[in-house]
Amino acid sequence: MSRQAYRAALAHTLADPSRERAEDAVAHHPDGLLVVEDGHVAAFGAYADLAQTLAPGTEVTELPGRLIVPGFVDAHVHYPQVDVMAAWGGQLLDWLDTHTFPAEQAFADRAHADAVAGFFLDQLLANGTTSALVFCTVHRVSVEALFEAALGRDMRLVAGKVLMDRHAPDGLTDTVETGRADTEALIRAWRGRGRLGYAVTPRFAVTSSDAQLAMAGAVAAAHPDVLIHTHMSENAREIARIGELFPDARDYLDVYARFGLAGPRSVFAHCVHASEDALKRMAQSGVSAAFCPASNLLLGSGLFNLSQACACGVNTALGTDVGGGGSFSLLQMMGEAYKVGQLRGHNLDPLHAFYLATLAGAKALHIDAHVGNLAPGKEADFVVLDLAATPLLARRTAAAKSLAETLFILSILADDRAVERTYLAGRLAHSRDRA
Ligand code: GUN
Ligand code: ZN
Repeated sequence: MSRQAYRAALAHTLADPSRERAEDAVAHHPDGLLVVEDGHVAAFGAYADLAQTLAPGTEVTELPGRLIVPGFVDAHVHYPQVDVMAAWGGQLLDWLDTHTFPAEQAFADRAHADAVAGFFLDQLLANGTTSALVFCTVHRVSVEALFEAALGRDMRLVAGKVLMDRHAPDGLTDTVETGRADTEALIRAWRGRGRLGYAVTPRFAVTSSDAQLAMAGAVAAAHPDVLIHTHMSENAREIARIGELFPDARDYLDVYARFGLAGPRSVFAHCVHASEDALKRMAQSGVSAAFCPASNLLLGSGLFNLSQACACGVNTALGTDVGGGGSFSLLQMMGEAYKVGQLRGHNLDPLHAFYLATLAGAKALHIDAHVGNLAPGKEADFVVLDLAATPLLARRTAAAKSLAETLFILSILADDRAVERTYLAGRLAHSRDRA
């Protein structure tokens, strides 16, 4: 058996701090000990309580001035869009036509997909992200490239082949039948290998015909372990287009519901303009929302109403939406979510933001039995944050009087420089100082 122990400040969430008492929802040990055995958490607690329980000979890695947190979960991200990050100009539909669709065409080439997949996963790890729900492209090889790269790194990742059979340029469309065959083949080949999972991934209802949406619903129903991952109610022009394409639907959510795509294993990115009624129906059906504040600001999509989504009972997580979003950092997403809240008159509690970036994402991806916090028995996916990564961070975190203050300072001032090490299943997968 392999056993390691890490002494540092520790923090994780056990429940939603906006619903449960903070004492029940958040655990924080300013001088803590994390014990890892065979890639799983064996103990998480106060150093004073655990030190004497350590098996003789266990080496303790001393990490003063560091905060260990669970690996972050990115609930919505596009790996083929690394090269459209920070592309100037235009809102969603123009941005797709001008920047994104041309970049995605290159993923018909397996060698290109391999190179980008490796770069992308290393960026996730450098930012402390250990799990993600990922859009590939319409090309089957784009998914094979990502899964192979994730398997090699032993990441708990969920991804899928994009389905789109209309309103997209040549080279980026499939059909109902090829979409079904490729999706089925990918599920058979990859689901359950290592820590991988599959998501049936219609891009959005603009680019899939009724027949393809129905096929996606049927494939998902035939494989109860797969997720459904798509976009919803992001942008005003997009929503108007949905109204034209689906005149009989009650709203955007109803389009997906009609085709069996709105259930407890569904994750819908954005939902910026979802009505209270739609949010309540999402909560009733168990659909999760991926709030992508950096993308919603950069693409001018709008201000997600987090407090309303939470009041309606929607499980909400955080996504970077790279390349619509301009950062891989879930710490920064916590800060961007706070800023969106400020523009809506809502002060997002840093502990709630921390939950959104970790356990809520794991719940959305249905991987919370394995990851999302550092409860004993879970896979040891964790991040060592350096609270003194920059002179400014050192100065501000030294003055913090609570975990909430420390997390808030990180969410506004930190970036990948604060991610000193990232561990996957107890194994060092990224070291800032070695990279
Ligand atoms: N809606 C449909 N496709 C996309 C995409 O690639 N990015 C974002 N942000 N929204 C979308
Ligand atoms: Zn997206």
